[in-house]
Amino acid sequence: MNTRDTLKVNAAGHLEIGGADCCDLAREFKTPLYVFDEAYIRRMMRLYQDTINEEYEGRGLVLYASKAFSCKAMYLIAKEEGIGVDVVSGGELYTALSVGFPAEKIYLHGNNKLPYERAEALDARIGGIIVDAYTEADALDREAEERGIVQDVLIRVNPGVEAHTHAYVQTATPDSKFGFSVSDGAAMAMTKHVLEKKHLRLRGFHCHIGSQIFEKHSFVLAAEKMCAFIEAVRKETGFEADTLNLGGGFGIWYTDEDAKIPVEGYRGYLSALIGAVKRECNARGLKLPFLLIEPGRSIVGEAGITLYTVGAIKEIPGIRKYLAVDGGMFDNPRYCLYQSKYTAVLANRAAEEPRERVAIAGKCCESGDLIGVDFNLPRAKEGDLIAVLSTGAYNYSMASNYNRNFIPAAVLVKDGKARYIVKPQTYEDLVRNDVVPDDLK
Ligand code: LLP
Repeated sequence: MNTRDTLKVNAAGHLEIGGADCCDLAREFKTPLYVFDEAYIRRMMRLYQDTINEEYEGRGLVLYASKAFSCKAMYLIAKEEGIGVDVVSGGELYTALSVGFPAEKIYLHGNNKLPYERAEALDARIGGIIVDAYTEADALDREAEERGIVQDVLIRVNPGVEAHTHAYVQTATPDSKFGFSVSDGAAMAMTKHVLEKKHLRLRGFHCHIGSQIFEKHSFVLAAEKMCAFIEAVRKETGFEADTLNLGGGFGIWYTDEDAKIPVEGYRGYLSALIGAVKRECNARGLKLPFLLIEPGRSIVGEAGITLYTVGAIKEIPGIRKYLAVDGGMFDNPRYCLYQSKYTAVLANRAAEEPRERVAIAGKCCESGDLIGVDFNLPRAKEGDLIAVLSTGAYNYSMASNYNRNFIPAAVLVKDGKARYIVKPQTYEDLVRNDVVPDDLK
């Protein structure tokens, strides 16, 4: 099971999450259903912020990367925990602001922020915008001037650190749509460009080397390269960055092929980053910058599971057995996109030993619609309850209404009690934006 005490098997042989029996959850809320353990989410947010407070004298802020799982409740939890958020679209910004999230703790990302997204960010007076294009810097400067304000910005830098992860979630290789490379002088040139802007106040630099990364070394290397870049900029321009944002990317447990990092292990990642920043800054005679980090997956990934009901079962002799569930690529597209692996548990018979290897298929009209192909489960029958683990990050946030299926509801469990944070969709929701032109009536 997962690495913390979120999940356990109770006396009835049922899987429990955050003290709630999955069979009860399925009965009350129906499946498919995303279930999140609130205590876990808070614990991870706190762990990161405590580490900064204790090991970096509080001179930094955790920004929850809300692309991992965005809904009003998540911003409210982050707000209560006193941390900030990273948003990447007008939609995420709107959701955060709609629950009164403090604007100064919101940072906006994106390699192509649209004019309305820039306007909304400037009007809300958010804490920072991470600039990722010349045209964006020019537009933001103009738009800030029109408003009579000066906007704090960071520049997205590509430190050129290759991390061991799926190519699509790797971002700091030389060929990336994100950031300006240090190695070819692009980051320095962009820095000079932004420093000339009267209505942008350059605070420092940002990097994010990728996602689902386990090697501490890659993070440390990126931190070192960023400090070296800060020094190079100071030498060449006289500007010394006062903010350094090192992005997110810490890996989580999906299957036993992944490391099981205990909570303290995540502190270790951040300690290593903090250590590198302190060491490099001391060696280079730099002021310690205000530190930002942007964990998404590691805050919410293992906090969540998805519950499905087994429907049709098909065995192709000598080839494979398919268990079809009431969800699929519309609630979890990660196998289709990245061949991501998951662990599944037969939640209503969780104490039984695995007996067979099965594929879990979705209900969409395409053969690639799978949650995965190599799950070890007890012999399942129609009506059994399957829990797919570690689905808290990049599942709901990447879900779609493909085939006009419903995006599942989400519940948040606290002290064994669950309540909706995303309610079920209805057929009316699915047709809400459909328009029948007069001539078709
Ligand atoms: N900061 C920036 C600028 C990012 O681009 C990301 C993730 C994060 C922070 C958060 O990284 P995390 O701590 O969650 O690894 N859909 C993919 C993951 C895409 C990640 C995109 N950026 C997946 O399902 O694996």
